[in-house]
Amino acid sequence: MNQIETEVLVVGAGLAGATAGVLLGRHGIDAMVISRAPWVANSPRAHIVNQRTMEVMRAVGLEQACEAAASPGELMANHVMMTAVNGLEFGRLWSWGGDPTRAGEYAHSPGHGCDLPQDRFEPILIGEAMRLGVTVRYRTEFVGLEQDAEGVMTTLRDRITGEEFTVRSKYVIGADGGQSPVAEAIGLPFEGTAGLAPALNVHFEADLSRHLADRPGSIFWIFQPGREGSVGNAMLRMVRPWHEWIIGFVHLGESVRSLSEEELIAAVREVVQDDEVEITIKGMYPWMINHVVAQRFQSERVLCVGDAVHRHPPMNGLGGNTCIQDSFNLVWKIAAVLRWGADPALLNTYTNERQPVGKNVVDRALAGWHQNPDVVRALGVDPKASPAERQAQFDVLFEDSDAGEQRRATFEAAKQDKRFSYHAHGTEMNQVYSSTAVAPDGSPTAQVTLDPLLHYSPSSRPGARVPHCWVERSGHRISTLDLCGPEQFTLLTRARGARWVEAARAVAAERGIPLAVHRIGPGGDVADLYGDWSRVSEIGEQGAILVRPDQHVAWRHADVADDPAAALREALTRCLALS
Ligand code: FDA
Repeated sequence: MNQIETEVLVVGAGLAGATAGVLLGRHGIDAMVISRAPWVANSPRAHIVNQRTMEVMRAVGLEQACEAAASPGELMANHVMMTAVNGLEFGRLWSWGGDPTRAGEYAHSPGHGCDLPQDRFEPILIGEAMRLGVTVRYRTEFVGLEQDAEGVMTTLRDRITGEEFTVRSKYVIGADGGQSPVAEAIGLPFEGTAGLAPALNVHFEADLSRHLADRPGSIFWIFQPGREGSVGNAMLRMVRPWHEWIIGFVHLGESVRSLSEEELIAAVREVVQDDEVEITIKGMYPWMINHVVAQRFQSERVLCVGDAVHRHPPMNGLGGNTCIQDSFNLVWKIAAVLRWGADPALLNTYTNERQPVGKNVVDRALAGWHQNPDVVRALGVDPKASPAERQAQFDVLFEDSDAGEQRRATFEAAKQDKRFSYHAHGTEMNQVYSSTAVAPDGSPTAQVTLDPLLHYSPSSRPGARVPHCWVERSGHRISTLDLCGPEQFTLLTRARGARWVEAARAVAAERGIPLAVHRIGPGGDVADLYGDWSRVSEIGEQGAILVRPDQHVAWRHADVADDPAAALREALTRCLALS
């Protein structure tokens, strides 16, 4: 059997695997990404790209390519509730950063969330990975693996010739999605419930611009209480404004699978209710509602990312984002072990840091899924009643009566709870790590007064993502995140940080670790013209913040240090598990 050698093998070329490929390529690691599919995702699937993911894309130079291929944030600003596309709109919720009263909160990032369907996102990532020299092979299937003290032997099958071959690598990243044969091969233990409900997406084309362009959004809820048969309940998702769509017919359930093309068109037309609109069905894609997370994400030299280790409903649009952020956490650690002399124990921090995030994400998404029936209940519609009775129950919402006032209050409260699914900036940005790759500074946990699921609280405490603010270098406005490249550690200081600069250069040379250093303020290489860094850094003028390649704070020193080199050496030794 033929054998190929590579440093890292990535099984799976979805958002998680393709991102790992880009990051490995940027580190100059010899890597191979394989997928059993012929090409990228065959349907739009994940589409909400949050600010944190756009920060990752900015860090790897792909922000502009993503923005050019995406629908911008302003076209996703609303979640609209209506009885038909050409029907009555009865509620609207700001979504995905669209609420003008919360614009200030979303200014804590240089990135803008956008709507980038997975089948358009994956080619950007995989193209970049290949440009960086990563070998990418489609139609290549994972068969099995065995690992020993030195590496992993993986058996693959070429799906064109049927021939099997082996790949010998130092590490394997399992990015092989919700059925993950890699997670199964290494016996990862899972908790939660799989297969909670089947779902089916119908992909279609129809020019709906005259009905929806003036109330732009990514997700439109179509609720038809008086529909013959069961209550009409469908989620219409914009793929491309305003002519390409995905629809999930909650009310048709599994029966959608057996519908002919004419019947599907009729079902879409029932939701659109405009006979002049031409409807073309493009495909039908089944998927499953799960609530599952692995208790650990790795076994020795095999580490799993993305849906391989967390599977959940699409509420909050966290799936693809979490996949990308898993890889951003993992790949620099592999690079640190392969290139910077870090002990392989550093890799254990991957599970320690990302498993709690994965668990929070699946729990949050499932809570959002459970909130959908709450909104229906709040509308006072009894699904078992006759169509005429249900319509009458729904019409109370518009009555000039005490019952109408009560119904509107109940509905509004349930609607506001849906903010947790559509506007949960805190869930996306408050991911704080605790592991041996972070050195706590003993400072008390910040008192958070706002709901941490809804609102992001910037902090430079060790473990948190380093705060963003605008600064200036060589006449250009840049983000503090732009100073923290993904293939290096970065020491950020303030105006009186000259001793830290000197210490960082000495320690970097001594340990052979890429360590950039910036002095932000008067006399430094970066100007703090707005004075924001002096505030958000939460350190004194002689303090310093050590930032990891994934832009999370490894360590900070609030002010002057007796021996900056010794302090920095100790911090790096801990965070990189150096001997
Ligand atoms: P993914 O499943 O994308 O990729 C797996 C890869 O592994 C593929 O390349 C596959 O070919 C390969 N593979 C599998 N088995 C293999 C084998 N034996 N050998 C070799 N290769 C193998 N997320 C989000 O962030 N925002 C959103 O709005 C949505 N919306 C959404 C809607 C719907 C309907 C669904 C079903 C899902 C979402 N998601 C989402 C979730 C999102 O789609 C999901 O989290 C990501 O696709 C998972 O990406 P991965 O890269 O982990 O796996």
